[in-house]
Amino acid sequence: MNYQQWLADATQRLSQANPNENAKIDALVLLQHATGRSRTQILAFEETQIDEKMSADLTALLARRLKGEPIAYILGEKEFWSLPLNVSVDTLIPRPDTEILVEKALDIALEKLHKKNSLLRILDLGTGTGAIALALTSELTPRCQKQGVQLEIIGVDFMPNAVLLAKSNAVKNQLNAIFLQSHWFEKVTGKFDIIVSNPPYIDQDDVHLSRGDLRFEPRSALVAEEQGYADLRHIIEQAPHYLKENGALLLEHGWQQGAKVRSIFRENLGRQVATVRDYGDNERVTLGFWKNHEIQ
Ligand SMILES: C[S@@+](CC[C@H](N)C(=O)[O-])C[C@H]1O[C@@H](n2cnc3c(N)ncnc32)[C@H](O)[C@@H]1O
Repeated sequence: MNYQQWLADATQRLSQANPNENAKIDALVLLQHATGRSRTQILAFEETQIDEKMSADLTALLARRLKGEPIAYILGEKEFWSLPLNVSVDTLIPRPDTEILVEKALDIALEKLHKKNSLLRILDLGTGTGAIALALTSELTPRCQKQGVQLEIIGVDFMPNAVLLAKSNAVKNQLNAIFLQSHWFEKVTGKFDIIVSNPPYIDQDDVHLSRGDLRFEPRSALVAEEQGYADLRHIIEQAPHYLKENGALLLEHGWQQGAKVRSIFRENLGRQVATVRDYGDNERVTLGFWKNHEIQ
């Protein structure tokens, strides 16, 4: 069998098994992964014969995808904010949606830089692969160096393997962030200019948990008590102890959770609260600023 024949067969089987996914792209990505060749090389040399060992590898990879396992887990890697990140079943596969949180946090960080802070401290709660912390580190390190500002970005997760994964991603991308094992703020000390988090926020009875990629991702990364609000609420309630005055908290949440999250923000942080919509016009990130005088 050659590349072209394998691609045709795999595409057909994948489109039958997962009709909502892009079978052609998945087949090509699996072949790229197994051969170590680029898409262009594969398409330019479609007549290349697949040997027995390669054929066995491809059969195993295809079997995993046919069962619905996410491509990112099969490849062990996913790109986020143009950074290649190792992924594992210990945590969530980073989503493009989360780049909105990074964009917003970056805007706020840059404003704070202009105010000539000498130390910019950022905390990422439930860091998983380290996606948010590392995206911010990659953007802010050169800017802070230029302005003579010290940068400290800390990511925490309560899953020891997620912390190891985030550390491996820092090394892989040659980025300087600190990763700690901590139950939310438990091991965190000092105050921060910005706290970000994409915590678990799905209700345990949500039907989406039994569909698509979510079937393979750990519940510990997805589900929260109180119809999905428990971790969001805990983080908002605790944040005032860890934010500098006028420090910002930014949280990703479900598209129907905006109103309630805003009200928890107002009760705990201050009046300056806003929700950012994604490209599909859904409310996905809420942010507020800690104003001590507005709460007292
Ligand atoms: C939705 S995932 C987000 C992962 C990553 N920040 C991202 O955006 O791709 C939530 C993360 O929170 C972590 N987590 C859940 N409960 C936690 C807790 N009590 N303390 C710290 N981290 C927690 C999970 O292990 C998981 O990595």
